[in-house]
Amino acid sequence: MYNEKVMEFFMNPKNIGEIENPDGVGEVGNPRCGDIMRITIKVEDDRLVDVKFKTFGCAAAIATSSMITEMAVGKTIKEALALTNRSVADALDGLPPIKMHCSNLAADALHAAIKDYQEKSRLGV
Ligand code: FES
Repeated sequence: MYNEKVMEFFMNPKNIGEIENPDGVGEVGNPRCGDIMRITIKVEDDRLVDVKFKTFGCAAAIATSSMITEMAVGKTIKEALALTNRSVADALDGLPPIKMHCSNLAADALHAAIKDYQEKSRLGV
């Protein structure tokens, strides 16, 4: 049911793990299936220099997590915030309709990590 690109990102995911002393952490859960996605980011000069993920979920959740880390690295905060579930799914050449909710998690987790970073910067921590 998955296309080749999704399978490739699922079988050989990039950027798995957790950044030590991250600048931001985002964690979202999918209430429909109970899966969890955690993204950690490192930011330098308003740019994402490292993005890693830890996901407990289905193949689509792993593939979308991996894809969003690849898409986000090197982007400015503003550009990264413009990434959506749709752009992740498109970059994977599409997801089965029943799995579209999974790609929402990837963008949400990244945005949550950026918000965490922005909040910490605002508070000076
Ligand atoms: Fe849980 Fe896809 S079924 S994230």
